[in-house]
Amino acid sequence: MNGLDSWEARWAPYSEADYAAVLAAIRPDDVVLDIGAGDLRLARRMAQIARQVIAWEIRPELLAAQRGERGAESDQRLRPVCTDARNEPVPPGVTVAVLLMRHCTHYALYVAKLRTAGCQRLVTNARWGMGVEVIDLGLGLPFDSIDVGWYACRRCGAVGWAGEDAAAVNAAALENITDVEGCPACSVNGER
Ligand SMILES: C[S@@+](CC[C@H](N)C(=O)[O-])C[C@H]1O[C@@H](n2cnc3c(N)ncnc32)[C@H](O)[C@@H]1O
Repeated sequence: MNGLDSWEARWAPYSEADYAAVLAAIRPDDVVLDIGAGDLRLARRMAQIARQVIAWEIRPELLAAQRGERGAESDQRLRPVCTDARNEPVPPGVTVAVLLMRHCTHYALYVAKLRTAGCQRLVTNARWGMGVEVIDLGLGLPFDSIDVGWYACRRCGAVGWAGEDAAAVNAAALENITDVEGCPACSVNGER
């Protein structure tokens, strides 16, 4: 698919543990934007909890296969849209976005659009490419404020280790991850 990494364009479901972590982060008053919703299996479950779920999926065949299955009351709160999430404006009122896409190469673009629309939380496995985390979409700490330790960039999604002073490494530095803004990779990733 045009401009998408071949892994990114691929549909695959995630584990029940991943879905449980997402569902635990969804509140009854949420308007959820599911970015890359696949066959809607998670979006349907989120619609049983949230006020509304808008589900964006680029591959029409995944959504077409679901058409006959609508019927539950929660399905009325689910709005599937076949679209490219890179080009679609985030609708006003979205309170939380879900981005289950371990190979996402457009994290920075999605965060910029979500912030512009006033969305407050992002539930994702895209930053670490591992388990699910909930990211506060407010500004992270300036990257330069870390002396030494792990960081994860809210703006561009890069993760890594900051600082080179081995003498400054202690238990707290090893255990903590600081959410930052403006990391060394931002100028590269921020343009994607
Ligand atoms: C790994 S699958 C996860 C599906 C679903 N979130 C789940 O957990 O069951 C990622 C999905 O994102 C979709 N996708 C990737 N890039 C997209 C884009 N730019 N716009 C809309 N959907 C996209 C893919 O087609 C794929 O179905």
